[in-house]
Amino acid sequence: MRGIAIGTYEAEMNVIIHAGGGNVAAEAFPDMTVITVTDKGPGIPDINKALQEGWSTAPDYVRQMGFGAGMGLPNMQKCSDEFDIQSKVGEGTTIVMKFKHQSEDL
Ligand SMILES: Nc1ncnc2c1ncn2[C@@H]1O[C@H](COP(=O)(O)OP(=O)(O)OP(=O)(O)O)[C@@H](O)[C@H]1O
Ligand SMILES: [Mg+2]
Repeated sequence: MRGIAIGTYEAEMNVIIHAGGGNVAAEAFPDMTVITVTDKGPGIPDINKALQEGWSTAPDYVRQMGFGAGMGLPNMQKCSDEFDIQSKVGEGTTIVMKFKHQSEDL
C-alpha cells in the first residue's frame, strides 16, 4: 500500500514538472492495483539514462523546491512489482506500475 502511494506520487510529480500535466488512472483488482500514468509532454530521449539514480533535467526553480534529485523513476521501479515505461520524443510518456497486494494490506 505504501508503495502505491510513493510510486503514484513520483509519477504524478514527473507529469507536472516535466510534461506540463497528464492523466493518472488507478485500477483495483483483488490481487493487485495497476497505476497508469500518461502524458503528452516532450517525451524522454534516453530512457535508460532517465532510469539511472541521480540523472535529472529538472530546472533550477524545481531544484530550489527540493525536487530534481533524479530519484523518481528509480523509486517507481523499486516500489512496484512490475514497471513499464514507454516514451516517444514529441509524443509523450506512459508508465504502468503493478502493485501486488500483500495479506497485511487487508
Ligand atoms: N513524464 C516525463 N516527461 C518527460 N521527461 C520525463 C518524465 N518523467 C521523467 N522525465 C525525465 O527523466 C528524468 C529523471 O526523472 P526522475 O523522476 O528520476 O528524476 P527527477 O524528476 O528529475 O527528480 P526527482 O524525481 O528526484 O525529484 C527527469 O529529470 C526528466 O528529464
Ligand atoms: Mg521525478
